[in-house]
Amino acid sequence: MPENLLKGKKGIITGALDENSIAWKTALKAKEQGAKFVLTNAPIAMRMGAVKELAEECDTIVIPADATSLEDIEKLYDEAKEFLGGNFDFLLHSIGMSPNIRKGKAYGDLNYDWAMKSYDVSAISFHKMMQVAEKKDVMNEWGSILALSYIAAQRVFPFYTDMADAKALLESITRGFGYRFGKNKKVRVNTISQSPTITTAGSGIGGFDAFFNFAQSMSPLGNASAEACADYIVTMFSDLTRMVTMQNLYHDGGYSNTGISEEIMEKFADLK
Ligand code: NAI
Repeated sequence: MPENLLKGKKGIITGALDENSIAWKTALKAKEQGAKFVLTNAPIAMRMGAVKELAEECDTIVIPADATSLEDIEKLYDEAKEFLGGNFDFLLHSIGMSPNIRKGKAYGDLNYDWAMKSYDVSAISFHKMMQVAEKKDVMNEWGSILALSYIAAQRVFPFYTDMADAKALLESITRGFGYRFGKNKKVRVNTISQSPTITTAGSGIGGFDAFFNFAQSMSPLGNASAEACADYIVTMFSDLTRMVTMQNLYHDGGYSNTGISEEIMEKFADLK
């Protein structure tokens, strides 16, 4: 394994809820690679307590912030700057939530107040994080900002309902703000489009087991794990990827470019 890829780098990691979270694995890897960072999550998630254990393991603090609140984001950046002793080299947005999915609403029967909540929490919060970062000028040059997406932004996965629209918006915001941040500050902005992963957000989606297994059979390398995703995030925060920006980067074992696999063909071979 390479060492110290993030030595001297400082940042913020959102979204570590429990040990399955992609952000949790990322925090451990970032620490291993020499980064200093602050953890943050919604105040309600903090009450569950596990993230404080992670903070101890990573020699850091947790600053509660609702990612939909500009005020909370401002406070987060102020306190993080103070703790880290300077501006940030990386920001990870690892946040997603849909009340419509949680409550089993079909795509043709969306509750629009809830849909707005899904878009705000899962996509517009990324815009808010970047807008506040730009206004407060908290990013260092050649910094890296990342969010996590899913292929339902490009193709229909019926059970993904309003989260598909949220992810499409998230990827559009990535391009829009990536342009600005590139021009103004040489900061790159990307999304990683991750395989289905067994986490609280992932397994809350209806039929998760079926599409996890389907993706596993479709992908020549198999599904990418949360840990492998954390490795990819670390490389995207490192200086080895400085010219990559405004991209949606598939991290899916080859799923997105596979039409059909032999395993899937076998399953359908005997159907009459
Ligand atoms: P997770 O459930 O561990 O993480 C989601 C996080 O969002 C939680 O920590 C939760 O507390 C946080 N959150 C929710 N509302 C918030 C708010 N208002 N303010 C601040 N934080 C808030 O699940 P996972 O899978 O690690 O999710 C991370 C990201 O990865 C999400 O964007 C998700 O959509 C994305 N993703 C997940 C996949 C999966 O199959 N698990 C596949 C592709 C992308």
